[in-house]
Amino acid sequence: MVVIDERGLILSFSAAAEKMFGYIEAEVVSENVSMLMPSPYREEHDSYLENYRDTGVRKIIGIGRVVTARHRDGFTFPIELSVGEARVDGSRIFTGFIRDLTERQQTELRLQDLQSELAHVGRVSEIGTLASSLAHELNQPLTAVTNYCETARDLLSEQPDAETLGIVREALDDAAKEAVRAGQIVRRLRDFIAYGETERRVEHLPRLINEANALALVGSREHGIEVEVKLDRSASRVIVDRIQIQQVLVNLIRNAIDAMLDSRIRALTIRTRTESNGFVRVSVCDTGGGINEEIAGQLFQPFVTSKESGMGIGLSICRTIVEAHGGRIWFEPGRRGGTEFHFTLPDAGADDAG
Ligand SMILES: Nc1ncnc2c1ncn2[C@@H]1O[C@H](COP(=O)(O)OP(=O)(O)O)[C@@H](O)[C@H]1O
Ligand SMILES: [Mg+2]
Repeated sequence: MVVIDERGLILSFSAAAEKMFGYIEAEVVSENVSMLMPSPYREEHDSYLENYRDTGVRKIIGIGRVVTARHRDGFTFPIELSVGEARVDGSRIFTGFIRDLTERQQTELRLQDLQSELAHVGRVSEIGTLASSLAHELNQPLTAVTNYCETARDLLSEQPDAETLGIVREALDDAAKEAVRAGQIVRRLRDFIAYGETERRVEHLPRLINEANALALVGSREHGIEVEVKLDRSASRVIVDRIQIQQVLVNLIRNAIDAMLDSRIRALTIRTRTESNGFVRVSVCDTGGGINEEIAGQLFQPFVTSKESGMGIGLSICRTIVEAHGGRIWFEPGRRGGTEFHFTLPDAGADDAG
């Protein structure tokens, strides 16, 4: 705690303040409090006080702020400052309560690191379970490319007429398209498991969903799952880390598919809509067997699984990611059986271009 008078001169300096700033009380009493601040606040503080005296407009008193302080040794550090005002013997004094945030900020940074590491591990393990389906998915376009190329080569082995050349051209076109498709699968996969800094920007939600969908549905064709995507056009821009939110979607969609393997009706619905509170809601709904009652209460805890080969970390990672974005995630029974998972993301508002 640091107490100053109306002119900004230090009246008292607590023992904790001594430790925090490196001065002893005797050195600072009667000095201008601006000595505890780095430039430009150091030069401007007198005018802040003057301004308050003249106008009575409170910019910090009773509000509290995160600002920068300056240690005796010259380094600066983040503090949380709340200022109170009191009258003593007819004159005004200000009391500053200061909390050093250095440690808290470091903890937060470390937590962010850990969170993105965990998310990365989760992506790699989720993709691991998809490896054989992915190999299959890649093999299809590659086989097609081989076939088209061989056909073209055979057609060209004799003197081809105009019509044959047309067919050859078409075959090569198709081969190129298939190669692009294989490339897309690889690129999506590479993006998904890349270890990157988390990076939040305005993203186009429908595109994000479609890409995640393509990845999550790998290998599900043979299960005959019907997929319906219902996107609210007003909910198209969100502020997110794209890869992490795609990870949430992939986890939820993979869980939904797993849950429907024993169902007669296998319908997956992905829905978006704007909420009234500055968030967009994304829902992944299935027609599976519903949530196992025994674990329903701990679903978002790590290592809770009902599957023989399950890791049980998918939903816990989903929750970490969604909450780090300021949103929430929950589930409820589906209207027509099955389960609905919902999560919210910060809405970036409508596009200026409409
Ligand atoms: N859509 C769903 N329908 C029914 N149960 C689900 C669904 N999603 C998740 N669960 C349950 O939650 C558990 C935890 O899911 P998760 O954290 O992704 O781990 P895992 O998929 O490895 O089991 C699953 O084992 C399953 O019992
Ligand atoms: Mg899972």
